Amino acid sequence: MPRHIISPLDLSVDEMKDLFDLADDIVANPGKYAEICHGKKLATLFYEPSTRTRLSFEAAMLNLGGNVLGFATADSSSAAKGESVSDTIRVVSGYADICAMRHPKEGAPMVASRFSSIPIINAGDGGHNHPTQTLTDLLTIRSLKGTLEGLTIGCCGDLKFGRTVHSLVNAMVRYKNTKFVFISPEELKIPDYLRREVLDAGNIEYREVKKLEENMPGLDVLYMTRVQRERFFNEEDYIRLKDSFILDKKKLEFAKPDMLIMHPLPRVNEISTEVDDDPRAVYFKQAQYGVYVRMALILKLLGLA
Ligand code: NCD
Repeated sequence: MPRHIISPLDLSVDEMKDLFDLADDIVANPGKYAEICHGKKLATLFYEPSTRTRLSFEAAMLNLGGNVLGFATADSSSAAKGESVSDTIRVVSGYADICAMRHPKEGAPMVASRFSSIPIINAGDGGHNHPTQTLTDLLTIRSLKGTLEGLTIGCCGDLKFGRTVHSLVNAMVRYKNTKFVFISPEELKIPDYLRREVLDAGNIEYREVKKLEENMPGLDVLYMTRVQRERFFNEEDYIRLKDSFILDKKKLEFAKPDMLIMHPLPRVNEISTEVDDDPRAVYFKQAQYGVYVRMALILKLLGLA
């Protein structure tokens, strides 16, 4: 039975530590890994737009000496003719050794995993989860802060539809003394299931607030997100909410000198470009860590490390 990564909890804390150690070794000794996936193929099945996730998966496989195949839009695949995800994956299982799938429907990669004879990695399913972004985020935090424990994480923006925040919360509650400050407009607060089943059930300390500046001083990490236009039911609501938070230099005057400013990207308006040269702004570095962690994940799932 192949091993799949559908949720951020599909890896234990110990397995994540192993994965991050491997990613660190890849950074330190890239030559050691350059041919290790020779003859192996990664399929990227993307039914929803992506830049970083798809390209970082492909770069990861190429860096390991493997090959890649796939599609970048649903309308360039047989999904446009009405083919089901389960049929597609049965076929792709015979063409590739491992598959990364992004889909607008929550649960689609999980359905695919039931019909697949190769490992499936969820590369984002609707507003639900995005486990490899979370691996990227945790590797970034561990590398730049030196620890994943005792951190106060501010999540700001669209906490309702933003799958990266949902996965980050699920993963970070497993580390000691994690605290959260959720900063969003009323309409974009974290989903109820996350509040009840993850935060309250785990006795996690958190606050839900509406203002960024006054909550900035206590944060070790500020995780900004864009308002997820494609998941809104109407455009008017999106327009009303899209610029709820814009991080600029002035607001950062209230932040700790070593706070990390993170963002899964793409950025729209929520971080002013004047912030980009602040040493605390690590979102482009974060995107680079995404390649290393995906290299490590491919090696683990293929049983090559
Ligand atoms: C995120 C996503 O697709 O959920 N992007 C990414 O994978 N880096 C965030 C977003 O689209 O806002």
